[in-house]
Amino acid sequence: MIAKKPPMGWNSWNTFGDKINEQLIKEMTDRIVDDGYRDLGYEYVIIDDCWSLRERVDGKLVADPALFPNGMKALADYIHSKGLKFGMYSCAGTKTCAGYPSSYGHEFSDAKQFAEWGVDYLKYDFCNFPVSGDAKNAYLTMAMALRSTGRDILFAACNWGMYDPSGWMRSHGAHSYRSTGDIFDGPKSYKDLFISQVENVENNAPGCWNDMDMLIVGMHGNGNVGIGGCSDLQYLQHFAMWAFLGSPLIIGADLRKLDDVNKKTLFCKGLIDINQDDECRPPFLVDHADTRKYTFAKLLSGNRIAIAFFNLAAEDQWSQNVGICFDDLGIHSESGIRLQLTDAITGEDLGIYEDSYATKIAPDESKVIIAQLIFPE
Ligand code: GLA
Repeated sequence: MIAKKPPMGWNSWNTFGDKINEQLIKEMTDRIVDDGYRDLGYEYVIIDDCWSLRERVDGKLVADPALFPNGMKALADYIHSKGLKFGMYSCAGTKTCAGYPSSYGHEFSDAKQFAEWGVDYLKYDFCNFPVSGDAKNAYLTMAMALRSTGRDILFAACNWGMYDPSGWMRSHGAHSYRSTGDIFDGPKSYKDLFISQVENVENNAPGCWNDMDMLIVGMHGNGNVGIGGCSDLQYLQHFAMWAFLGSPLIIGADLRKLDDVNKKTLFCKGLIDINQDDECRPPFLVDHADTRKYTFAKLLSGNRIAIAFFNLAAEDQWSQNVGICFDDLGIHSESGIRLQLTDAITGEDLGIYEDSYATKIAPDESKVIIAQLIFPE
């Protein structure tokens, strides 16, 4: 099955924009393997916009030979030889967002071309879509085109949340759908995207995932979407949010320059395990106080429940009290069930609790907990 779980990988756009080439993509591929990302599940290496010539040749998309001298098939072979998968980019309109040729009216031949190159993932954007066109139908057409190739190609639709894609992208063949406008590398950006999606993730399930956009973790204001950067605590919060809500985890930073603190964030196994849990359930919102404090829960495999507290209030001076009554998890005190709590970020054993759990979290801090149910003898 394609996209049984949220896709994980790396994409060129957030840091490199149009400054991409074969050597760069190979270097990122090498980092993903040699630095251990692949072993954690990051598997798609995705080239975003700006890879082709400015015009089609004989009706076909052609990789710019100045940037990709050996062509896309050779690059795909390299990525596959490292045990990874190859992602590319096109668009439902007449031109891509950066003005390159796009797949409107060429869906079946472009899909065939991508399959011949060995593409495993197609991000499909929404710029320059004809006013007379039918957006839902255009995504359906590319879904059909990709299926017709006989190759397993993950269809990553990207229409920025237009026309409420959570309601129709699954039925129209997408394996993920961008539900928001573009992320930028600053705290307001990731927090706004999170707030816009907190009540919009219940449709997450095997085969199709709400994509809240690529990660900015560790970018520190550098690169194509840089606007000042975030603190390390904010990057950790952003990652914890994306992981908990079931978004694809697609890294956007330059892996060659990632500092140890943010690498540790992207390597946080406890958070990745929640995102990739075998039961593949979406989370549910337990409680929130205005747009500053959010409490989520998510049923996990193995009689476990994940609980997350997010404090978004950077401007506050003091820590916030957060907590959860186990009643809100369907566990009433007369059941005799206790919860063994482990901090998913630090791995710390927090002990065994009955009825409720409470703690304090600093501005921009997140507390994510895995609760193992202990049943009475
Ligand atoms: C749109 C998408 C981005 C990126 C750019 C490329 O803005 O939302 O993620 O793909 O186009 O031009």
